[in-house]
Amino acid sequence: MAEKSVGTESLAIEGAKKEYKGKKLRVAFIGCGGISHTHAAALAGMPDVEIVAGVDIIPERLTVFQERWGVPKLYESWKKMLKEVEPDAVSVCTPNGVHKAPTVDALNAGCHVMVEKPMAMNPGECEKMIAAAEKAGKQLAVGFQYRYHPNTQFLKRSADGGEFGDIMFMKCQALRRRGIPNWGVFGQKEKQGGGPMIDIGVHIIEMAHYFMGSPKPVAATGNTWTYHGNKPSKVVVPWPNWDYKTYTVEDLAIGHIRFENGAILQVEASFVAHIEKDVWNFSFMGTKGGGQWDPPMTFTDRNDTMVNTAAHYVGGDVDFPALFRIKLRNWVDACMTGSPLEAPGEAGLAVQKMLDGVYRSAAAGKEVTIK
Ligand SMILES: NC(=O)c1ccc[n+]([C@@H]2O[C@H](COP(=O)([O-])OP(=O)(O)OC[C@H]3O[C@@H](n4cnc5c(N)ncnc54)[C@H](O)[C@@H]3O)[C@@H](O)[C@H]2O)c1
Repeated sequence: MAEKSVGTESLAIEGAKKEYKGKKLRVAFIGCGGISHTHAAALAGMPDVEIVAGVDIIPERLTVFQERWGVPKLYESWKKMLKEVEPDAVSVCTPNGVHKAPTVDALNAGCHVMVEKPMAMNPGECEKMIAAAEKAGKQLAVGFQYRYHPNTQFLKRSADGGEFGDIMFMKCQALRRRGIPNWGVFGQKEKQGGGPMIDIGVHIIEMAHYFMGSPKPVAATGNTWTYHGNKPSKVVVPWPNWDYKTYTVEDLAIGHIRFENGAILQVEASFVAHIEKDVWNFSFMGTKGGGQWDPPMTFTDRNDTMVNTAAHYVGGDVDFPALFRIKLRNWVDACMTGSPLEAPGEAGLAVQKMLDGVYRSAAAGKEVTIK
């Protein structure tokens, strides 16, 4: 699957104002914590969407969700909700370990699904989710939003136009100097599948892989380290008081992915790293040119001269909520009309294979094959 850049039209927030002949997509939420509100804010602004139910195991989360978004029905069990509400579509915003089960149940109940990133805990779970979507004939989208970012789109258009030749090397960094989430279950390996690699490395890998034209990963090597999050700390940080007693994930993960075409992707992801400051970036070298995501620049030869080009304007003020409006709009359009998804389950599976490869290599202490 070689994905093309998204046209500027679909980047336009105005796209959110479409209507389908008065028909509304009835969307239910499974998981009403932090990120569900960003989803709900995006969907609440769409005239062709109605939020019909919320599911969470914590009653207070349901109360807040109802108060903010005027949701008529609340449940503590998604199975009961699916049976009684019969929504058209479901947004799955639960912790990673609770992505597969509600997604498969919702698809089996005939719903379209948007599942948050990472798609699941491992590639095997992703495959079951994709199979359920195929069987049901429903849309399964993965909550990747950074491919819509104007910087990504600028570089993708340049790559599609042949400016860089073949991409040989990608360096991807999702590095926090000190940023262990102090909410949810982000420090618990059995509930999340891992730490920064699966939580934020996933974002940088997905946009880099999309930019590269989605080559097939074939091998991985890497390692993970835990040295800070599992101990009490007095260091002054923006997110203090995380639960160090239940912290079982890595602080830092480094990986190399080899692709079928010979390209290499290096990924660095941390909740804790002794670096100057946080980094959120990728850079790359191709046979004809290179570049970087932030600030968006390209490095090429022009008129027998080595030239560095800084993009002057890559798009409007596309902030975090706007990226969610774009990703959810693409999903809603696909549910309503069958138009193509920008980030289908297959994209989630490819990324999951890379994450899994790094973790498997870390456990095995050697390079592993990705099937
Ligand atoms: N795309 C992004 O940029 C982005 C940003 C943040 C989070 N996320 C993803 O969204 C997911 C949720 O993250 P969050 O920050 O909202 O976490 P959170 O802990 O704030 O919310 C998760 C909610 O799910 C509920 N839940 C847990 N088990 C449940 C079950 N069995 N049935 C129903 N509800 C259940 C919890 O009670 C909680 O309210 C994670 O997978 C995370 O990776 C994505």
